[in-house]
Amino acid sequence: MKIESLLIHGGIDGDEKTGAVSVPIYQTSTYKQEALGKNSGYEYSRTGNPTRDAVEKLIADLEEGYRGFAFASGLAAISAALMLFKSGDKIILSNNVYGGTFRVIDKVFKNFNINYELVDTSDLQKVKDSITEDVKAIFIETPTNPLMSITDISKVSEVARKNKVLTIVDNTFMTPYLQKPIKLGADIVIHSATKYLGGHSDLIAGFLVVNNEELGERVHFIQNSTGGILNPFDSWLLIRGIKTLSVRMDRHNENAEYVAEFLKENSLVEKVYYPGFETHPGHEIQKKQANGYGAIISFVLKDYIDRNKFFKGLKLIILGESLGGVESLISHPATMTHAAVPYDIRQEIGIVDGLIRLSVGIENKKDLVEDLKNALKFAK
Ligand SMILES: Cc1ncc(COP(=O)(O)O)c(C=O)c1O
Repeated sequence: MKIESLLIHGGIDGDEKTGAVSVPIYQTSTYKQEALGKNSGYEYSRTGNPTRDAVEKLIADLEEGYRGFAFASGLAAISAALMLFKSGDKIILSNNVYGGTFRVIDKVFKNFNINYELVDTSDLQKVKDSITEDVKAIFIETPTNPLMSITDISKVSEVARKNKVLTIVDNTFMTPYLQKPIKLGADIVIHSATKYLGGHSDLIAGFLVVNNEELGERVHFIQNSTGGILNPFDSWLLIRGIKTLSVRMDRHNENAEYVAEFLKENSLVEKVYYPGFETHPGHEIQKKQANGYGAIISFVLKDYIDRNKFFKGLKLIILGESLGGVESLISHPATMTHAAVPYDIRQEIGIVDGLIRLSVGIENKKDLVEDLKNALKFAK
């Protein structure tokens, strides 16, 4: 089955018992048992729930992985992945990952002596040089949030496998419609399903997909033991959102290309980060490993432009955290999504105070450009 069909019919398709086309919401905490030790396969909804099972099977199908897990947020999924490690282990981390990913490693897991090193994973030599005895995983985001830096998933996975370390890929920006890290050699794929997979800015959820049974058993043990599961209603909402992923992503891609060209040509814009540009570092790798460039664009305005006035001048594009919804969202990483990253590190990796991140929605692309044009004029 091709992915457009799999998005609609993958996982558990509807309800066998009644023929309902939509998977039922099993809003239950527990299950009646026939006798001691005799049950339907479900005992308690932290351990397993049929609606959550349906969305977990769906993401495993879409990512071509062995088993999927649905969590209460992207960060709950990331935390579960980090719980695979023990005191003394070290993780190599892409150097401009989402601020919350950095924060949970730096402020929570480091307290348990799980160490990390920030590495520019777009540079394979730097990845190779960073591998020491204690390194147990390479955690990459590609493209990164917010600088759209591209890492070669196949090459990094190869280095990781040679050194017996896991490759973990946060695939939030691409979704399995555009990029499949497990097929490229990764062991674990993570999503903030809050974003494109949900697609409508109406839920918080996360996914973790593994490529083998052993990792599946370990993640299930962690999920059941620590309890960061996705509830039945949000599992259902997520199934609903995923059905339209292909049409949404096609429109996201088309709109982003149009908006990125406008920003590039505008004299009030200093710099634009968009992997679709041939001049973007890693453009060729992106072309090789993904089926599109996604719809996140970061840009810097000329320093004489009043940033606050620019945000105020926008009438259609919404100033807010998050991305990947049908509506366009704009944010200021230094004070919003990446505020948890210390100032010095932000400067070092390029998250300057003037940087703006735009998540291009699926509105009419000409309306979006008109909105940006008017706000720039207002802020000049
Ligand atoms: C790339 C990426 N990964 C993970 C997360 C965290 O996901 P959540 O907000 O669903 O916990 C985000 C949130 O913005 C993100 O952008």
